[in-house]
Amino acid sequence: MSVVELSDVVKRYRNGQELIEALKRVDFHAERGEMVTVIGPSGSGKSTMLNLVGLLDTPTEGTVRLDGQDVTDFSEDELTEERRSGIGFVFQAFHLLPMLTATENVELPSMWDTSRDRRDRAIDLLQRVGLGDRLDHTPNQLSGGQQQRVAIARALINEPDILLADEPTGNLDQDTGRTILDELTRLKEDENIAIVSVTHDEQLVDYSDRIVRLVDGVIEQ
Ligand SMILES: Nc1ncnc2c1ncn2[C@@H]1O[C@H](COP(=O)(O)OP(=O)(O)OP(=O)(O)O)[C@@H](O)[C@H]1O
Ligand SMILES: [Mg+2]
Repeated sequence: MSVVELSDVVKRYRNGQELIEALKRVDFHAERGEMVTVIGPSGSGKSTMLNLVGLLDTPTEGTVRLDGQDVTDFSEDELTEERRSGIGFVFQAFHLLPMLTATENVELPSMWDTSRDRRDRAIDLLQRVGLGDRLDHTPNQLSGGQQQRVAIARALINEPDILLADEPTGNLDQDTGRTILDELTRLKEDENIAIVSVTHDEQLVDYSDRIVRLVDGVIEQ
Protein backbone atom coordinates (compact mmCIF):
# COMPACT_ATOMS: atom_id res chain seq x y z
CA MET A 1 0.00 0.00 0.00
CA SER A 2 1.28 3.46 -0.87
CA VAL A 3 2.39 5.49 2.12
CA VAL A 4 0.85 8.53 0.44
CA GLU A 5 -1.40 8.85 -2.57
CA LEU A 6 -3.06 11.72 -4.45
CA SER A 7 -5.98 10.70 -6.69
CA ASP A 8 -7.48 12.94 -9.33
CA VAL A 9 -6.33 16.02 -7.44
CA VAL A 10 -7.19 19.52 -8.59
CA LYS A 11 -5.87 22.61 -6.82
CA ARG A 12 -7.22 26.04 -7.72
CA TYR A 13 -6.17 29.36 -6.26
CA ARG A 14 -8.37 32.42 -6.48
CA ASN A 15 -6.55 35.72 -6.98
CA GLY A 16 -9.26 38.37 -7.01
CA GLN A 17 -11.14 37.72 -10.25
CA GLU A 18 -8.52 35.32 -11.58
CA LEU A 19 -8.76 31.58 -10.97
CA ILE A 20 -5.44 29.72 -11.26
CA GLU A 21 -5.50 25.96 -11.72
CA ALA A 22 -2.15 24.95 -10.26
CA LEU A 23 -2.80 21.18 -10.41
CA LYS A 24 -5.06 19.60 -13.01
CA ARG A 25 -6.24 16.07 -12.15
CA VAL A 26 -2.98 14.80 -10.72
CA ASP A 27 -2.39 11.19 -9.65
CA PHE A 28 0.68 10.56 -7.52
CA HIS A 29 1.92 7.98 -5.05
CA ALA A 30 5.03 7.20 -3.04
CA GLU A 31 6.16 3.92 -1.50
CA ARG A 32 8.32 3.09 1.53
CA GLY A 33 11.99 2.75 0.66
CA GLU A 34 11.59 4.80 -2.49
CA MET A 35 12.98 8.18 -3.52
CA VAL A 36 10.58 9.93 -5.89
CA THR A 37 11.59 13.20 -7.47
CA VAL A 38 9.13 15.64 -8.97
CA ILE A 39 10.88 17.75 -11.60
CA GLY A 40 9.30 20.68 -13.36
CA PRO A 41 9.85 24.29 -14.39
CA SER A 42 9.06 27.26 -12.17
CA GLY A 43 5.32 27.66 -11.67
CA SER A 44 4.50 24.09 -12.76
CA GLY A 45 2.88 23.28 -9.39
CA LYS A 46 5.69 21.45 -7.53
CA SER A 47 5.39 23.27 -4.21
CA THR A 48 1.61 23.12 -4.44
CA MET A 49 1.85 19.35 -4.84
CA LEU A 50 4.37 18.96 -2.02
CA ASN A 51 2.11 20.98 0.29
CA LEU A 52 -0.78 18.62 -0.48
CA VAL A 53 1.37 15.50 0.06
CA GLY A 54 2.56 17.04 3.35
CA LEU A 55 -0.98 17.87 4.51
CA LEU A 56 -0.08 21.56 4.72
CA ASP A 57 -2.92 22.34 2.32
CA THR A 58 -6.06 20.57 1.07
CA PRO A 59 -7.10 19.91 -2.55
CA THR A 60 -9.96 21.70 -4.29
CA GLU A 61 -11.03 18.35 -5.74
CA GLY A 62 -9.78 14.79 -5.41
CA THR A 63 -8.51 12.55 -2.63
CA VAL A 64 -5.44 12.35 -0.39
CA ARG A 65 -4.68 9.03 1.29
CA LEU A 66 -2.07 8.09 3.89
CA ASP A 67 -1.46 4.34 4.16
CA GLY A 68 -4.76 3.84 2.37
CA GLN A 69 -6.72 6.04 4.77
CA ASP A 70 -8.64 8.91 3.19
CA VAL A 71 -7.54 12.06 5.06
CA THR A 72 -9.10 14.57 2.62
CA ASP A 73 -11.84 15.59 5.04
CA PHE A 74 -9.77 15.48 8.22
CA SER A 75 -10.04 18.47 10.57
CA GLU A 76 -7.11 20.84 11.03
CA ASP A 77 -6.26 19.12 14.35
CA GLU A 78 -6.34 15.66 12.80
CA LEU A 79 -4.12 16.80 9.93
CA THR A 80 -1.67 18.36 12.39
CA GLU A 81 -1.45 15.07 14.27
CA GLU A 82 -0.86 13.07 11.05
CA ARG A 83 1.82 15.56 10.01
CA ARG A 84 3.56 15.46 13.37
CA SER A 85 3.66 11.68 13.60
CA GLY A 86 4.19 10.70 9.99
CA ILE A 87 5.85 13.41 7.94
CA GLY A 88 9.23 15.16 8.06
CA PHE A 89 9.89 18.36 6.13
CA VAL A 90 13.12 19.75 4.74
CA PHE A 91 12.56 23.28 3.48
CA GLN A 92 14.81 25.01 1.02
CA ALA A 93 15.75 27.79 3.44
CA PHE A 94 16.47 25.28 6.26
CA HIS A 95 14.38 27.23 8.82
CA LEU A 96 16.85 26.54 11.64
CA LEU A 97 16.53 28.68 14.74
CA PRO A 98 19.68 30.82 14.95
CA MET A 99 20.02 30.89 18.74
CA LEU A 100 19.80 27.12 19.19
CA THR A 101 22.63 24.60 18.77
CA ALA A 102 22.48 21.89 16.10
CA THR A 103 21.34 19.38 18.73
CA GLU A 104 18.61 21.70 20.06
CA ASN A 105 17.36 22.41 16.55
CA VAL A 106 17.07 18.68 15.87
CA GLU A 107 15.27 18.08 19.17
CA LEU A 108 12.76 20.84 18.59
CA PRO A 109 9.95 18.92 16.80
CA SER A 110 9.89 16.36 19.62
CA MET A 111 9.80 18.87 22.51
CA TRP A 112 6.20 17.90 23.31
CA ASP A 113 7.32 14.32 23.87
CA THR A 114 8.66 13.53 27.35
CA SER A 115 8.42 9.77 26.97
CA ARG A 116 11.70 9.15 25.23
CA ASP A 117 15.24 10.29 25.26
CA ARG A 118 15.12 12.82 22.50
CA ARG A 119 18.54 14.27 23.23
CA ASP A 120 20.17 10.89 22.54
CA ARG A 121 18.17 10.46 19.36
CA ALA A 122 19.08 13.97 18.19
CA ILE A 123 22.77 13.27 18.76
CA ASP A 124 22.47 9.89 17.01
CA LEU A 125 20.82 11.50 13.99
CA LEU A 126 23.46 14.23 13.80
CA GLN A 127 26.19 11.59 13.96
CA ARG A 128 24.52 9.70 11.14
CA VAL A 129 24.54 12.76 8.89
CA GLY A 130 28.21 13.31 9.69
CA LEU A 131 27.87 16.15 12.20
CA GLY A 132 28.95 14.34 15.36
CA ASP A 133 31.68 16.97 15.80
CA ARG A 134 29.30 19.93 15.35
CA LEU A 135 26.65 19.18 17.98
CA ASP A 136 26.98 22.46 19.87
CA HIS A 137 27.46 24.73 16.87
CA THR A 138 24.76 27.28 16.07
CA PRO A 139 23.60 27.65 12.43
CA ASN A 140 25.84 30.67 11.75
CA GLN A 141 28.83 28.48 12.69
CA LEU A 142 27.85 25.89 10.07
CA SER A 143 28.22 25.79 6.29
CA GLY A 144 25.16 25.67 4.03
CA GLY A 145 25.55 21.93 3.47
CA GLN A 146 25.95 21.33 7.21
CA GLN A 147 22.81 23.38 7.92
CA GLN A 148 20.95 21.30 5.35
CA ARG A 149 22.09 18.15 7.16
CA VAL A 150 20.83 19.55 10.48
CA ALA A 151 17.49 20.19 8.74
CA ILE A 152 17.42 16.57 7.52
CA ALA A 153 18.23 15.23 11.00
CA ARG A 154 15.49 17.43 12.44
CA ALA A 155 12.98 16.12 9.89
CA LEU A 156 13.72 12.57 11.09
CA ILE A 157 13.42 13.10 14.85
CA ASN A 158 9.78 11.94 15.04
CA GLU A 159 10.54 8.85 12.93
CA PRO A 160 8.35 9.78 9.96
CA ASP A 161 7.20 7.44 7.19
CA ILE A 162 7.62 10.19 4.62
CA LEU A 163 10.37 12.77 4.19
CA LEU A 164 9.46 15.73 1.99
CA ALA A 165 12.08 18.04 0.56
CA ASP A 166 11.61 21.22 -1.46
CA GLU A 167 14.79 21.76 -3.52
CA PRO A 168 17.05 19.69 -1.17
CA THR A 169 20.14 20.75 -3.13
CA GLY A 170 18.88 24.23 -3.99
CA ASN A 171 21.38 26.37 -2.12
CA LEU A 172 24.31 23.98 -2.42
CA ASP A 173 27.23 23.55 -4.80
CA GLN A 174 27.35 20.29 -6.81
CA ASP A 175 29.70 18.38 -4.48
CA THR A 176 27.78 19.29 -1.35
CA GLY A 177 24.54 18.48 -3.16
CA ARG A 178 25.92 15.04 -3.97
CA THR A 179 26.85 14.45 -0.30
CA ILE A 180 23.31 15.36 0.77
CA LEU A 181 21.82 13.05 -1.87
CA ASP A 182 24.10 10.19 -0.75
CA GLU A 183 22.90 10.75 2.81
CA LEU A 184 19.25 10.79 1.77
CA THR A 185 19.76 7.55 -0.15
CA ARG A 186 21.30 5.89 2.90
CA LEU A 187 18.53 7.15 5.21
CA LYS A 188 15.87 5.95 2.80
CA GLU A 189 17.33 2.44 2.97
CA ASP A 190 18.09 2.40 6.72
CA GLU A 191 14.72 3.79 7.80
CA ASN A 192 12.61 2.38 4.95
CA ILE A 193 10.97 5.78 4.44
CA ALA A 194 9.54 7.36 1.31
CA ILE A 195 11.42 10.46 0.20
CA VAL A 196 9.58 12.89 -2.05
CA SER A 197 11.67 15.77 -3.42
CA VAL A 198 10.66 18.56 -5.74
CA THR A 199 13.30 20.38 -7.76
CA HIS A 200 14.47 21.84 -11.05
CA ASP A 201 17.85 20.16 -10.46
CA GLU A 202 18.47 17.35 -12.97
CA GLN A 203 21.29 16.14 -10.67
CA LEU A 204 18.60 14.45 -8.57
CA VAL A 205 17.65 12.17 -11.47
CA ASP A 206 20.64 9.87 -10.84
CA TYR A 207 19.67 9.41 -7.20
CA SER A 208 15.96 8.81 -7.71
CA ASP A 209 14.09 5.52 -7.99
CA ARG A 210 11.38 7.27 -9.93
CA ILE A 211 11.00 10.62 -11.70
CA VAL A 212 7.71 12.41 -12.09
CA ARG A 213 7.66 15.31 -14.53
CA LEU A 214 5.21 18.10 -13.85
CA VAL A 215 4.42 20.64 -16.56
CA ASP A 216 1.80 23.35 -16.12
CA GLY A 217 -0.05 21.40 -13.42
CA VAL A 218 -0.12 18.13 -15.38
CA ILE A 219 2.02 15.01 -14.75
CA GLU A 220 3.74 13.72 -17.88
CA GLN A 221 4.22 9.97 -17.74
N1 LIG B 1 -1.32 30.95 -2.70
C1 LIG B 1 -1.42 31.12 -4.03
N2 LIG B 1 -2.33 31.96 -4.57
C2 LIG B 1 -2.46 32.10 -5.90
N3 LIG B 1 -1.69 31.46 -6.79
C3 LIG B 1 -0.76 30.61 -6.33
C4 LIG B 1 -0.56 30.40 -4.93
N4 LIG B 1 0.44 29.51 -4.77
C5 LIG B 1 0.87 29.19 -6.00
N5 LIG B 1 0.15 29.84 -6.96
C6 LIG B 1 0.29 29.71 -8.41
O1 LIG B 1 0.16 28.32 -8.74
C7 LIG B 1 1.13 27.96 -9.72
C8 LIG B 1 2.05 26.86 -9.18
O2 LIG B 1 2.85 27.40 -8.13
P1 LIG B 1 3.93 26.53 -7.33
O3 LIG B 1 4.44 27.37 -6.23
O4 LIG B 1 3.32 25.25 -6.97
O5 LIG B 1 5.04 26.31 -8.46
P2 LIG B 1 6.48 25.61 -8.38
O6 LIG B 1 6.52 24.56 -9.41
O7 LIG B 1 6.78 25.23 -6.97
O8 LIG B 1 7.46 26.80 -8.84
P3 LIG B 1 8.98 27.15 -8.35
O9 LIG B 1 9.87 26.18 -9.04
O10 LIG B 1 9.17 28.54 -8.89
O11 LIG B 1 9.03 27.07 -6.87
C9 LIG B 1 1.85 29.25 -10.12
O12 LIG B 1 1.23 29.77 -11.25
C10 LIG B 1 1.64 30.13 -8.91
O13 LIG B 1 1.64 31.49 -9.30
MG1 LIG C 1 8.20 25.89 -5.54
